[in-house]
Order: sequence, then structure tokens, then C-alpha cells
Amino acid sequence: MDGKGPEASGFFPPPADLVTLVFHIKPPESYLFWRIREGGRVLPRGFAPWNSAMPAWKEDITDEKIWKIIIYIYDAAGAPQP
Ligand code: HEM
Repeated sequence: MDGKGPEASGFFPPPADLVTLVFHIKPPESYLFWRIREGGRVLPRGFAPWNSAMPAWKEDITDEKIWKIIIYIYDAAGAPQP
């Protein structure tokens, strides 16, 4: 969740530090929902060569569970619940 897992150095761009993201940048929870559901492939074309390895989770995780993950991230960041 802090983007520093054992495989992190194998990715460019590296996995995001979600706790810092939520604590400092405070993205709307709808942004997190969209990015987790759709993964990196929804990034605008202008982001090239930003070649995201972030998988889309919509086939594997229900929307309800995605919201539970978001609440967990907010909790870990000590941010108010969405
Ligand atoms: C349920 C588990 C996961 C959640 C909740 C999650 C969530 C996120 C979110 C919200 C971002 C965007 C952060 C931003 O916009 O600044 C992100 C980025 C990223 N994630 Fe994940 N992720 C998960 C699993 C994974 C896995 C398994 C991988 C590796 C295969 C991965 C690789 C990446 C990478 C490389 C990025 C940075 C590139 C980008 O912004 O698309 N993530 N993740």
C-alpha cells in the first residue's frame, strides 16, 4: 500500500504510495474508485510513455469490495472516512 513491496523496483512507473497520496493530495474517492476499477490503461494518451502496470480490478473485485479497500486506505492514512 506504500508502493514499496518486494516487486516494486521491477515497475516503471513504480507502484503508487497510496497512503501518502490520500493523506497529502486528498484525491476525490471517486478518482480512487475509477483508478482501481479500470487500472492504468485508462490514463490519457498524453501520459505516454508512462506505461502503467496497474491492473484493472473490475473483473475480479466487486464494486462493494473496491469501496472497502478505499475505506481501508483512508483508515491507514488517518484521513477522514469518505
Ligand atoms: C487491490 C490492490 C491495488 C490497489 C487498491 C491499487 C491502487 C492503485 C491506485 C489508486 C493507483 C493510482 C495512484 C495515483 O493516481 O497516483 C495505483 C497505481 C499503480 N499501481 Fe496499483 N493498486 C493495486 C494493486 C496493484 C498491483 C497488483 C500492481 C502490480 C502488478 C499495481 C501496480 C501499480 C503501478 C505500477 C501504479 C503506478 C502507475 C499508475 O499510476 O498507473 N497495483 N494503484
